[in-house]
Amino acid sequence: MDFVIKGDIVYSRSPRELAVTENGWLVCANGCSQGVFTELPEQWKGLQVIDHSGKLVIPGLCDLHLHAPQYAFRGLHMDEQLLDWLQKYAFVEEGKFSDAAYARRAYGIFADQMRRSATTRAAIFATVHREATEILMDEMERSGLISVVGKVNMDRDAPAYLVEESAQRSAEETRAWLDCVAGKYSRTGPIITPRFIPSCTEALLSALGALVRDRGLPVQSHLSENPGEVELVCSLVPESKFYGDAYDRHHLFGSHGGAIMAHCVYSSEEEIELMRSRGVFVAHCPSSNINICSGIAPVRKYLDLGLRVGLGSDVAGGESESLFKEMRCAIAASKMYWKYVDGTAAPLTFPEVFWMATVSGGAFFGRVGSFEPGYAADIVVLDDAREPYPQKLDVAARLERCVYLSADKTAIVDKFVQGDRIAL
Ligand code: GUN
Ligand code: FE
Repeated sequence: MDFVIKGDIVYSRSPRELAVTENGWLVCANGCSQGVFTELPEQWKGLQVIDHSGKLVIPGLCDLHLHAPQYAFRGLHMDEQLLDWLQKYAFVEEGKFSDAAYARRAYGIFADQMRRSATTRAAIFATVHREATEILMDEMERSGLISVVGKVNMDRDAPAYLVEESAQRSAEETRAWLDCVAGKYSRTGPIITPRFIPSCTEALLSALGALVRDRGLPVQSHLSENPGEVELVCSLVPESKFYGDAYDRHHLFGSHGGAIMAHCVYSSEEEIELMRSRGVFVAHCPSSNINICSGIAPVRKYLDLGLRVGLGSDVAGGESESLFKEMRCAIAASKMYWKYVDGTAAPLTFPEVFWMATVSGGAFFGRVGSFEPGYAADIVVLDDAREPYPQKLDVAARLERCVYLSADKTAIVDKFVQGDRIAL
């Protein structure tokens, strides 16, 4: 569908600058933006006009990290730190996904909620179970969102009902899953997903690295999230120079096909430099980092160094799929970091977190997260008048207010992914 949206259009021009066109025209053809205009150019005058005058029109948001099976316990179990939290809660819930009927129910709810959110793209962890992972991919495809989904690999340090039998079996299952989903979907693709180093033996990492090299697949995992975890990795892989090196030794750190590493709260200088040089995406997950007491990632430093940073809801370490919540949490966390940790690390600004949630994280998916010509027509429309205000506000202020007032839960009136309308 080719169309024009009329409304108050905002996207990120750079980390510091919002491009705002009040009462503008956003032209979409062949699934892509053709640009934003103050007057509709002659050549586009034949297109259908969708009139969203007075409403905010923004790029869809990109969630670089979340766990679909954990959606069932979102908002619960925030009383432990990472390693105990995994054993006590996350693994227990994930064990249930050996049951396809349960997976269908749970993933149906998950995909439905994702469809209604401001998110248009996501990088998602499933569980170790192949059948349930395919059910999740079916549900995500049906949602209309564009996503990469990973069958999780873990062959150690988890309860018997969840841990895979051997590295070889885990790799075989992954290969069978990849073969099964190859060419099956138009919006949903696979991503190699070693859970984190404590869950994966060297033999498994090596087999996954070979898959990544052979098939040019992207990778997602966790990195330097919690001090106990970092220490554990040091003892498990004493030959690795730092946590990220334990992935890199097996080509799982952005050397082929791209990589997303969630958290990066405790990354060493060497690890940061390797992420920068490899173009690894940092998925900053501030809600999760606060909920399970992991810490605060030094995001200002990552931005200053030019790392690629996006936002992740990390459901269910994060309590909700809302990236508006994640944006305001990123700002709040950075203020505490500035106040209590490093007075030279200026707090994040609203334009910066909006940039992270849109075009910066969106780069993982290609030309995504902006309305510059050629970017995917991923669009969310917000009716911010649903939270009335008496004064005059400019468009940028209205957007900031929407983010703080959770308008993604109350005010989304239209949504498109690559030019296709999503039924809300
Ligand atoms: N590290 C390994 N697995 C997980 C998970 O499920 N959630 C979080 N937050 N960190 C992890
Ligand atoms: Fe996670």
